[in-house]
Amino acid sequence: MSDPILSVRDLSIAYRTGRKESVTAVSGVDLDLYEGQSLALVGESGCGKTTLGLGLLRLLPNLGEITSGSLTYRLKDGTRADLLAMKKEPLRRFRWNEAAMVFQGAMNAFNPVIRIVDHFADTLRDHADGKKWTKAAVEARAGELLETVRLDPDRVLQSYPHELSGGMKQRALIALAIALDPQVLVLDEPTTALDLLTQRSIVQQLHELRSKFGFTMVFITHDLGLAAELADRVATMYAGRIIETGSARDIFYEPKHPYTAGLINAVMPVKGDRPALESIPGYPPSLKAMPDGCAFNPRCAFATDECKRDRVPLSLLTERPLGMDHSVACLHHDQVRLPRKESANV
Ligand SMILES: Nc1ncnc2c1ncn2[C@@H]1O[C@H](COP(=O)(O)OP(=O)(O)OP(=O)(O)O)[C@@H](O)[C@H]1O
Ligand code: SF4
Ligand SMILES: [Mg+2]
Repeated sequence: MSDPILSVRDLSIAYRTGRKESVTAVSGVDLDLYEGQSLALVGESGCGKTTLGLGLLRLLPNLGEITSGSLTYRLKDGTRADLLAMKKEPLRRFRWNEAAMVFQGAMNAFNPVIRIVDHFADTLRDHADGKKWTKAAVEARAGELLETVRLDPDRVLQSYPHELSGGMKQRALIALAIALDPQVLVLDEPTTALDLLTQRSIVQQLHELRSKFGFTMVFITHDLGLAAELADRVATMYAGRIIETGSARDIFYEPKHPYTAGLINAVMPVKGDRPALESIPGYPPSLKAMPDGCAFNPRCAFATDECKRDRVPLSLLTERPLGMDHSVACLHHDQVRLPRKESANV
């Protein structure tokens, strides 16, 4: 396979919670993202999806800090950059031009007192190198982008965010994120809080944008149905770690981690009979009191004493055909099956 566009090794991220205290929200993540791929990061609330997404673009808030690991990125000009060593100015250029983020919570992502057109003006002027963005040029580019996401520029450009519906705001945010033609787009919960029909149309839109612009996509979601529709690859997170990763087909039809299988099993099937949904017992651990060994062990039906001793690393399943990499962090993955194997629920 070619050189990955983004390569993450052993990445850990902590939030400072007091003068001398911190909690590790992302721990030891390894990830390679290849050009044109669409990767879904899935997992329960609080497992670290947003933190990892922000970390990938060095967009963490002040209290968040990358505490170890490496993060390298292949720039548009083909050179490889060490994102952790990048200084303020190159980092400013990197964001939006090379990689952009659609933040979680479309409702609040726009500044409420700034018109939509001025959000485009600020982004284009702040991040575009050298090019002079006149008012007319901004309006033309913003109008073109809004049309790409099926919004009427005449209606939207001069509006304030509160004058748009949730779905319109989400579309406008996506248009803004691709304003400088980034190679990588990270979307954090792009359809949460939208009604079902609007969710459908955003998903359709993302398909169209991807085939038109060919960007690489990481989208963060706890909606497995969305992941099944949009992802080529899926990574499941639990308690700050990636505990399984593979092709969307492998993950949805042959999950090998009990937690991934539990997530899939807890989703209502779209077709066929409606068996009782099974939830995963218990709750995710507190970041301040992580269990020893595999963090899932208190909730796991397969747990043995061995699972409670040492951290279980993510390991490649060797029985998969070459190129079909599927990795899992579970000592007893050979025992894991979906109860209704023929029909994954998503
Ligand atoms: N600014 C912060 N300060 C301290 N802890 C934080 C901060 N932001 C997130 N955390 C903690 O880091 C962990 C991961 O949070 P994160 O927002 O990345 O999870 P998530 O998987 O995106 O959840 P959700 O699905 O609810 O959006 C959580 O335990 C959260 O409480
Ligand atoms: S390592 Fe053990 S506790 Fe962890 S998921 Fe696998 S079987 Fe369960
Ligand atoms: Mg989140």
